[in-house]
Amino acid sequence: MSLRITWHGHATWAVETDRHTIIIDPFFDQNPAATLKAAAVKADFLLVSHGHSDHIADAAAIANWCGATVVSNYEITSWLAKEHGVKKTVGGNLGGGVDLPFGRVKLTLAHHSSSLPDGSNGGNPCGFLLTIGDKKLYFACDTGLFFDMKLIGAVGLDLAVVPIGDLFTMGPDDALEAVKLLAPKKAVPSHFNTWPPIAQDGAAWAARVKQETGYDAMALKPGEGLEV
Ligand code: NI
Ligand code: MN
Repeated sequence: MSLRITWHGHATWAVETDRHTIIIDPFFDQNPAATLKAAAVKADFLLVSHGHSDHIADAAAIANWCGATVVSNYEITSWLAKEHGVKKTVGGNLGGGVDLPFGRVKLTLAHHSSSLPDGSNGGNPCGFLLTIGDKKLYFACDTGLFFDMKLIGAVGLDLAVVPIGDLFTMGPDDALEAVKLLAPKKAVPSHFNTWPPIAQDGAAWAARVKQETGYDAMALKPGEGLEV
């Protein structure tokens, strides 16, 4: 099976299989780095890592016009259903996984916060481990560095997407340590260059990862993708 991963800027990613499109943290219309508007997005599944507006922003709108299923923690899926009329949701919690038509989604630990835009409790933030065919993709989403990434990497990752922006998440140095723990076939940076406080040089980080860890790494530009 071929898998295509596209970065839409900030922490917004698309994973396309032969039959399904999965969008992680849909943030398009207010995302200064996005090359697409939410109205142009077609998705079957939306994965929302936590309640902050730079991750949940366009989830309800896209879900409601595409009929997409939202996968997130239970607090967030309940809020989307109650406050925004989202019809199809799968709410889980950390450590739990669910088998969906495209593959398996597991909600992994993330050290962050998760208040919703209206101040509601957004539960615990998470990352996502996707198993699609024989491929394993890990999206760390918003988090600081944690040693249990070693356990996540132990499954054998084809791709690890890690934040490097600093301030709100890991910065470049901790993200490099994360790659050592995750031991992926390829590492790709996320959550940077959206706004000046999280400006980073993604290509320089990828070069450092290759040199200092021996794992492959590559920085994309918004709108660019890669095959996994
Ligand atoms: Ni956040
Ligand atoms: Mn964020």
